[in-house]
Amino acid sequence: MSLDKNLDKILIIDFGSQFTQLIARRIRELGVFSVIVSHKKIKNKDINDSIKGIILSGGPLNVYELNKYSFDKKIIENQIPVLGICFGHQILSKLNGGRVKHSKNREFGLANIYKKKDSLIIKDLFKKNKIIKVWMSHADQVSKLPKNFVTIASSQNSKFAIVENKINRFYGVQFHPEVTHTENGKKLIGNFIFLICKIKKNWSSKDQKLKLISDVKKQIGNNKIICALSGGVDSSVVAQLLNKAIRKNLYCIFVNTGLLRKNEEKQVIDTFRKKLKINLIYVNAEKEFLSKLKNISDPEKKRKIIGNLFIKIFERYAKKIKNVKFLAQGTLYPDLIESKSVTGSETSKIKSHHNVGGLPKKMKLKLVEPLKYLFKDEVRKLGLELNLSKEIISRHPFPGPGLAIRMPGIITKEKINILKDADQFFIQALKEHGLYNKIWQAYAALLPVKTVGVMGDNRTYEYLCLLRAITSEDGMTADFYDFNKSFIQMISNKIVNSIRGINRVVYDVTSKPPSTIELE
Ligand code: XMP
Repeated sequence: MSLDKNLDKILIIDFGSQFTQLIARRIRELGVFSVIVSHKKIKNKDINDSIKGIILSGGPLNVYELNKYSFDKKIIENQIPVLGICFGHQILSKLNGGRVKHSKNREFGLANIYKKKDSLIIKDLFKKNKIIKVWMSHADQVSKLPKNFVTIASSQNSKFAIVENKINRFYGVQFHPEVTHTENGKKLIGNFIFLICKIKKNWSSKDQKLKLISDVKKQIGNNKIICALSGGVDSSVVAQLLNKAIRKNLYCIFVNTGLLRKNEEKQVIDTFRKKLKINLIYVNAEKEFLSKLKNISDPEKKRKIIGNLFIKIFERYAKKIKNVKFLAQGTLYPDLIESKSVTGSETSKIKSHHNVGGLPKKMKLKLVEPLKYLFKDEVRKLGLELNLSKEIISRHPFPGPGLAIRMPGIITKEKINILKDADQFFIQALKEHGLYNKIWQAYAALLPVKTVGVMGDNRTYEYLCLLRAITSEDGMTADFYDFNKSFIQMISNKIVNSIRGINRVVYDVTSKPPSTIELE
C-alpha cells in the first residue's frame, strides 16, 4: 500500500464500522484531508511524515478474537497522536496493557456522559452542567485502563467513556463522535485533529472536485466509458464529472424504463443534450421492462430484474459503440453501506438493494463509481462546483428501479399512469407552497388495495394512494415531514378529485428506522 507523502492527512484505520465514512466526512467538513485504509492492509512501513494523526474506527469485532483481525502494533508507536473510537478505543487500551470485557450492560443509543477532568480533547465540549449526550453502540468495554491513561469523562455504564494518555497523545472514546446524534461530536474530532495533531486546514470542495476528476482520469485512461444517466442528482453529477474529465470518450445512456416520473424523459433529454451538450443516447425500453416485470410482485425480484435488464441494455449499447471498457454509476456511500462491506473490513451486511444489489455477478463492463464515498449533500455541493444548475442539484432522490418500488404488488400500465399523475400533483403542490426544498424526499405510492368510497352519490372501489415526505441528512435515518392540516387536506382532495382510480389518500408517518424511505 502506498500513501501519498505530499499532502498532510489524518489516517483512518477501518475495523469495519458502519460509521467509518462518517469519520472521514466530518474531517472533510473541518477542512482537512483524510484517508481510510482497512486494518488488514496497513502496515507500519506505510506510515510516513504526512500522517499527522491516526483514528482507529469502531467495528463489529471483539478485541480477543485475534484471528479475525490483524493490526501491526508498531503503527501506534510512531509518536503520532491516536484517537480510538469504540472498538478503536478498546484495541488501543488492549495494545497498551489495559483490559476489555464483555459488558452485561450493553449500550445502544443515547447516553449521558459526565466530565471528570479537563483535557484538550474536550475543550468547549461540555456546558456548565458538565453533561453531554453521546451515541453509544457497543457490547464490550474497557474494564481496566493501561498505565499512563486517565479518565476524562464517564457514563453510567461506561466508566472510561473518554480517556487520555497525555504522554503518548493517545485518546479513546467509547461512543461515536462522528454521528450527528452525539452532541458536539464534530467539535471533539476537531479538537483531536487541530489541537492535538496540530494539522492545518488543507481541503475544500474545490480540492475534492479536482481530486475526483484526476482520479477518474487515471482510472479510465484513454478507454471509452458509458454512464448510466437517470436524470437524478447522483447520476447527473457523475455525468458532468466525467464530461469534465474525459469528454470525448463519454457516452451517457438514458434508459426510459417506463417507470419514470411524469414527463421525465423530456426533461432529461432537454437538460443533457441541449443545455449541457453531453453526448446522450436515449433508449426507450419501456416495453422490455414492463414485459419482464409482468406479474412479479416480490420486491427483491423486481429489483434484480430491473438491475439485470439495465446491465443488458448497457452491454448491448457498449457493443454497438465498440471497445467500451467501463460503466459509470452514481452510487453513493449510503447505498453501499447497507449492501456490502466497503473497504474490505467486516461491515455487517444489512440488506441487499440499491444500484449495487441489482448488479449481476458476472458483468462484462468494469464499474466506475466516483461518488461512492460521498453523502448526498456532499454530492449536491460537488454538483454546484461542476456548474450544474440549482434545479438539477436540488431534485429529490429518485431510485434506479423507479416507480416499480413505489407500487407494491404487480406492475401494470394502468397503475403506472395513475401513480405518475398522483406523484406529479404532489410534487407540484410542494413546489407551489415553497415546501419542496424543506423536504429531503417526497413521493406518491400506489398501494395494492382497493377501498370503498362514495363520490357524487355513487359507490367507488379504487386504489389507495400513499404519500411520503421525509426530512433527512443523508438518507441513512429519516423522519416524516410534519405538514399542516390544510396542505395535506388540499393535496388529498386534489388527488382524489382529479385522478380516476384513487379514492383515498394516506400519509406515511413512520421514520427510518424502523421503516425505510422507499416502500420496497
Ligand atoms: P431506503 O428505502 O433504503 O432508501 O431507505 C434510501 C435512499 O436510497 C434511495 N434508493 C435507491 N437509489 N437505487 C437508487 O439509485 C436503488 O435501488 C434505490 N433504493 C433506494 C431511496 O430513494 C432513498 O433516497
